[in-house]
Amino acid sequence: MTDPTTASETSADVLRKRALAALLAARERTALLTECVSEPELTAQHSPLMSPLVWDLAHIGNQEELWLLRAVAGRPAMRPDIDPLYDAFEHPRAERPTLPLLPPREARRYAAEVRGRALDVLESTRFDGTPLTAAGFAFGMIAQHEQQHDETMLITHQLRNGPVALTAPDPDPGAAAKFVASAEVLVPGGPFTMGTSTEPWALDNERPAHRRLVPPFFIDTVPVTNAAYQMFLADGGYDEPRWWAPEGWAYLREHGITAPLFWRREGRAWVRRRFGVTEPVPPEEPVLHVSWYEADAYARWAGRRLPTEAEWEKAARHDPVTGRSMRYPWGDADPRADHANLGQRHLRPAPAGSYPAGEAPCGARQLMGDVWEWTASDFLPYPGFRPFPYKEYSEVFFGSDHKVLRGGSFAVADVVCRGTFRNWDYPVRRQIFSGFRTARDAPPDIGRAAWVGMREVR
Ligand code: AVJ
Ligand code: FE
Repeated sequence: MTDPTTASETSADVLRKRALAALLAARERTALLTECVSEPELTAQHSPLMSPLVWDLAHIGNQEELWLLRAVAGRPAMRPDIDPLYDAFEHPRAERPTLPLLPPREARRYAAEVRGRALDVLESTRFDGTPLTAAGFAFGMIAQHEQQHDETMLITHQLRNGPVALTAPDPDPGAAAKFVASAEVLVPGGPFTMGTSTEPWALDNERPAHRRLVPPFFIDTVPVTNAAYQMFLADGGYDEPRWWAPEGWAYLREHGITAPLFWRREGRAWVRRRFGVTEPVPPEEPVLHVSWYEADAYARWAGRRLPTEAEWEKAARHDPVTGRSMRYPWGDADPRADHANLGQRHLRPAPAGSYPAGEAPCGARQLMGDVWEWTASDFLPYPGFRPFPYKEYSEVFFGSDHKVLRGGSFAVADVVCRGTFRNWDYPVRRQIFSGFRTARDAPPDIGRAAWVGMREVR
């Protein structure tokens, strides 16, 4: 299998340091997200779609206790009484504010106590034993779990009314240095390796690596922008049932949806609310906060379609020179600040065409970071899938209820960012940091010459 092997050769020492850094980075971000608002704001429910922030905080600690202290180190439960409160499957989000949750101070103390012990476990655990500890998987999984809840908490901040609580550490991304020349790029047909069997902290749903035959297709060079999306609005896209999947159309009508979430008309212009500030919708940025149904309808209106998950991953990882699948569009190196807009450094996507250093071999940009990209595909297991370490991470979500999103948003941390990473959600969801790009079939006989030709034009 032509899967990168560098990661599997990484030594236990390096992985242990990486795990420590990932756990510390996650906790620093959790602190930032939970210390910038008052105690009543932490316990309040800001949207029925979300948990109170204080639930996420203690749930982060509880998962860390379950996996690192109990499963890895065999320690007894610290607080068996609170386990059911923080089991995501026992209580749906809407119900969580009514539970006798740990108040903020106690939730912080609990998470900190778990962390103190988990760091001892990290130091004393061999990385070559059980499947759970091999390559430090459990530690990587828990750092990823915390970072995913940090993104969830950032969504809660976006939904919250009231004064601005968060600021971005980095200045706004500037205009894209030089806009890309072509609207779409060709990905030639042929097989490629999807998924991974060697990436040490890849989650169960990304495994195993397997070959997929993907016919040739064109894909947008950059995510669909607000300017492009506004043309769909201006053309009456939300009043035309023919662009919409029937369930999407029904949902639109039932909820009176006329634009992306957080958008509002002001005179003839569109404005949006972003982390407590109302501002004009920036035309050059990737569209954000659209549902799968909105993405699907736009694509149909544009005479195109959403890329399948396999197409998306081939565009992002396939290196036609070596025939190998890379870890990221730019190669196998861990993400740098000039590769992609990640890690909540900016509280917004960057203009389309940014991050030339992160360009994929096919010429597509911003596949990682900025906005999660809806794909046409249902969330399904790969051939040979095995649930690990628990069925409730992925397996219970497989099926046609959820659509796959790829790439990651500006709110995704490095440890969660990979060319193989799979996110999923209901097709009606749009409070998430979701956008999309479109694709179309290429003629079956289109060849390498055309691909090379396009590269030269660009
Ligand atoms: C992969 C983002 C859909 O937030 O429900 C968090 C990640 N799993 N806790 C989610 C997750 C368990 C998951 N998503
Ligand atoms: Fe969780």
